[in-house]
Amino acid sequence: MYGDFFMSEKFIVEPCGPLRGTLNVCGAKNAVLPVLAAALLTEKPCTLQNVPLLSDVEAMCVLIESLGARVSCENNTFVIDASGADSLDASYELVGKLRASFLIMGPLLARFGRAKVPLPGGCAIGSRPVDLHLKGFAALGAKIDHAHGFVNVTARRLKGAKIYLDFPSVGATENIMMAAALANGQTILENCASEPEIVDLANFLNSIGGKIRGAGTDTIKIDGVVSLDAKDIKHSIIPDRIEAGTFMIAAAISRGDITLSNVLADHVKPVTAKLKEVNVLVEEHENGVRVFCDDSSEIIAADLKTLPYPGFPTDMQAQFMALMSTARGTSVITETVFENRFMQVGELKRMGAEIKIESRSAIVEGVERLTGTQVAASDLRAGAALVLAALRADGLSEITGVHHIDRGYANLDMRLNKLGASIKRADME
Ligand code: UD1
Repeated sequence: MYGDFFMSEKFIVEPCGPLRGTLNVCGAKNAVLPVLAAALLTEKPCTLQNVPLLSDVEAMCVLIESLGARVSCENNTFVIDASGADSLDASYELVGKLRASFLIMGPLLARFGRAKVPLPGGCAIGSRPVDLHLKGFAALGAKIDHAHGFVNVTARRLKGAKIYLDFPSVGATENIMMAAALANGQTILENCASEPEIVDLANFLNSIGGKIRGAGTDTIKIDGVVSLDAKDIKHSIIPDRIEAGTFMIAAAISRGDITLSNVLADHVKPVTAKLKEVNVLVEEHENGVRVFCDDSSEIIAADLKTLPYPGFPTDMQAQFMALMSTARGTSVITETVFENRFMQVGELKRMGAEIKIESRSAIVEGVERLTGTQVAASDLRAGAALVLAALRADGLSEITGVHHIDRGYANLDMRLNKLGASIKRADME
């Protein structure tokens, strides 16, 4: 669909002045991935609009096609027809490409009474278990077996239940919500995640015939239905708040002036609040935000702690750290959502940042300038942080591992170039 996304490429980034201009933000990766899985719940074709063209989206499409769904797309509109889908065993190779693929388990279990999906392995940002997903399925009456690295879940018909999540996991909330949509009776999901992507998924499920209330709060009520078969299913994916946040930091780190459209200001509030705290100006518009810097004020350090929504998103932690690396003063950045999410630190240090890690916190002493060098993106958001740092660095930076960045940003290089950056994409020798 979009070329070979595992091709080894690098970015060559020249330092730039203030980035200026306007940019349209894409649909949210973390909203479309669960919605693609949820499309397996219905035999009716689903039209999805505002779909971002990302390698993770392609990987999810290939996975649902391997289960018998048909996917067609024209620009950012995708049509998913899962009438011919079946609960085949999901392949290790396909599931291994993205962790969100575990989200096919809830829909397959609910529609076909069985699912066999490889256990996701660890990844760069931690071990990322799925115990909360499985506890939820068990509470709905599913039988769960593990064998040879696969999880096998079966149930004749799931039964609604009261489920309290130990932690408001985004993926567990989504997987359980999808399974419960076809269960017999009511499910009450407590201490669940309230991210905007959960609301988007609930809206999609309701548009296919589900009965879900409370998404966006910590308690979701799902009245199970016998089949999800609404007609004329059309759903538009919400804007990507993490992509928006990344461009907001690009404006700040380059001391520029960027206006973003297709942004829901409410969704980026935690980022807006932090940017204002460090002296960056943010104006909220009806369908977007403007982020700019006042020439007379310098960016100052501020502490930060990542938290489930509406706290500061863990997916913006690395990018904010890049900004703090060049701020005046010392900031303490604490990661509470993932156990090992400071992959960018070693690389930022190679660019001259002064950062010390103490347990779950990174202590960042701002420096005047960073220096360009060769660095490697180890995961999606760490990669974005390196691009942001490179914009502000003296000299050329070379960032390898661009396929990680392409997982979650469509044409990041070209879109930053449109604002005045100079980023070249090149094949690795
Ligand atoms: C989703 C997002 C990811 C984001 C994360 C937190 C998608 C596709 N990905 O990931 O970008 O960083 O939310 O906002 O939407 N946990 C358990 N047991 C479980 C499930 C999770 O212990 O069964 C732990 C995880 O290891 C992690 C924490 O809970 O430490 C948060 O994970 P979770 O909210 O589930 O994140 P994901 O859904 O994987």
